[in-house]
Amino acid sequence: MKNTLLIAAACALAGPATLAAADPPAGTRQYWEEHCASCHGVEGKADTKAGKKIGAINFTDPQNQARFTDEQMFRAIKEGVKNKSGKYTMKPAENASDELIKFLVAYIRSFKK
Ligand code: HEC
Repeated sequence: MKNTLLIAAACALAGPATLAAADPPAGTRQYWEEHCASCHGVEGKADTKAGKKIGAINFTDPQNQARFTDEQMFRAIKEGVKNKSGKYTMKPAENASDELIKFLVAYIRSFKK
């Protein structure tokens, strides 16, 4: 049983070679909906009350997507985003491995219209 789990984990890690995974692995969507959608919206439109209030960006807009490289997105998710007065507008993602953060970046890219 333990071995099966290890193999499954190894496959998940070895999975997509690029960040542009069309179909992110199970768990990514759920993590997004639980930890990110309150501000960014389930479909990335930032059309939520909290999202509008805090100024989250609409990820379906190609111009907004073009503002960030994958690396910048990765860092924003890992380290959070602060405003000029040093207050977090977005906190670092909780309990997210680097692997999951890469999948989240790919997932956000898939919102682009
Ligand atoms: C409390 C609301 C909030 C939550 C929750 C939140 N974000 Fe954000 N996020 C923001 C705001 C606001 C911005 C825009 C920051 C800016 O550019 O000034 C942002 C920007 C981003 C960016 C663009 C990079 C950047 O530097 O601005 C990415 C990528 C991102 N969020 C991913 C995520 C992911 C993934 C999660 C879940 C783990 C998440 N966010 C959860 C509010 C939130």
